[in-house]
Amino acid sequence: MPPRTLIRDATVVLPGEDARTSVLLEGGRIAAIDPAPHTRADEVVDAAGLHLLPGIIDDQVHFRDPGLTHKEDLCTGSRACAAGGVTSFLEMPNTVPQTVTVDALAGKLALAARRCVVDYGFYMGATTDNLAELQRAARTRGVSTPGIKIFIGSSTGNMLVDDQECLEGIFAGTTLPITAHCEDESTVRANLARLEGSGTLTVHDHSRIRDHRAAVTATLRAIDLAVRHNHRFHVLHVSTAEEVGILAAHHDLITAEACPHHLFLDTSDYDRLGTLAQMNPSLKTAADRAALWQGLRDGAIQNIATDHAPHTREEKAAPYPASPSGVPAVEIVLPLMLDQVNRGACSLQDIARWMSDRPGRIWDIVGKGRIAEGCDADLVLVDLSLAREVRNEEQITKCGWSPWHGTSLQGWPLRTWVGGRTVFAAAAGAGGPGRVETDPVGREITFDHALGGYWATKT
Ligand code: DOR
Repeated sequence: MPPRTLIRDATVVLPGEDARTSVLLEGGRIAAIDPAPHTRADEVVDAAGLHLLPGIIDDQVHFRDPGLTHKEDLCTGSRACAAGGVTSFLEMPNTVPQTVTVDALAGKLALAARRCVVDYGFYMGATTDNLAELQRAARTRGVSTPGIKIFIGSSTGNMLVDDQECLEGIFAGTTLPITAHCEDESTVRANLARLEGSGTLTVHDHSRIRDHRAAVTATLRAIDLAVRHNHRFHVLHVSTAEEVGILAAHHDLITAEACPHHLFLDTSDYDRLGTLAQMNPSLKTAADRAALWQGLRDGAIQNIATDHAPHTREEKAAPYPASPSGVPAVEIVLPLMLDQVNRGACSLQDIARWMSDRPGRIWDIVGKGRIAEGCDADLVLVDLSLAREVRNEEQITKCGWSPWHGTSLQGWPLRTWVGGRTVFAAAAGAGGPGRVETDPVGREITFDHALGGYWATKT
């Protein structure tokens, strides 16, 4: 049983307002906000001067387990989450084996129960011939999933499904929410052929091969499928201003997310970072980056997720295009955003909405996403005044590097609770890396798709 804990005198980021108050955790839940004076607890945390946020829900990570565990595994990935204030993650199916059968999903859930220090859920992956398994996943009790992931554009893991008949079949024949990687394969192939013909490729060409047109074409195609089939659909990692404009027109069925690499980096960063800045969808221009921020503020984009995609430094050092796409971010995304709060670009309320409440609603997650009595005690206590530099050598992710190495950020997590248990406590004084849980205290997330998703539960 997690200890009865009183977090005293924090500025608590409640739904819609920040309040200087105390929070009592008991039995893994938030038992009381502003409990009676002299409430007794096993531990009292003096949080004066600190801010308490709902734990981050990251709805897009790649933890490589099973099969690619030289890059990451469910233990190292979930420990990196804990250190970054991420208390729940939803993981993608491009592992080995791929999560494309109910048995593979059950296997991953069993593995996670033995390895994860934060709460977890796993998508079912679509293939060209696993419709029956996608249908079975929705019916099988005890193997809960947030939804179906389709790679409408190819990326790591050879899971491309871009045949129109096949996509129509998946949207028509399934009930689970659908999400997709949207980059148009024929556009990408045509760009590649043209650029290969004109000389040696460099990483700068990544954004010319996986260009604006590729992203916009595939996003339009997926939204058209969702609307015609009246199917809930989430656009992963939006990267262009044009997609933001398209998304702004939808107030039903469609939700979308932005990732830290597209919010904080752009094509001008290739000179500095080389293939460390290579990911799919590719980086776009500074104007696209600004449009993504505006899209978040306007509500065209609902949430932020990391697309944490670790590859080893040796793998990333291969000359482009042999270098793999993807960057790690679960332990850095919250400090990046807290730094933006200090710069006046967003508020703690925005962070709680974009990174906890909305992903909770989009995926029908039960009992998470906000600081409210009865909700899971998934919390992160942050110090907005603490300034530290991101260092490769302090990363908990197994890949051991960050594209933000050397960046100084102000605002860091000091302590993370999952279900009322402390899974991360920063070192005293200067902050992390600190102590990170190693026991598998994470639990399977409960999804209730009868809730109807973001548009049905939006307040
Ligand atoms: O850059 C990426 N890497 N984008 C993806 O969609 C997949 C990911 C990976 O798994 O490496």
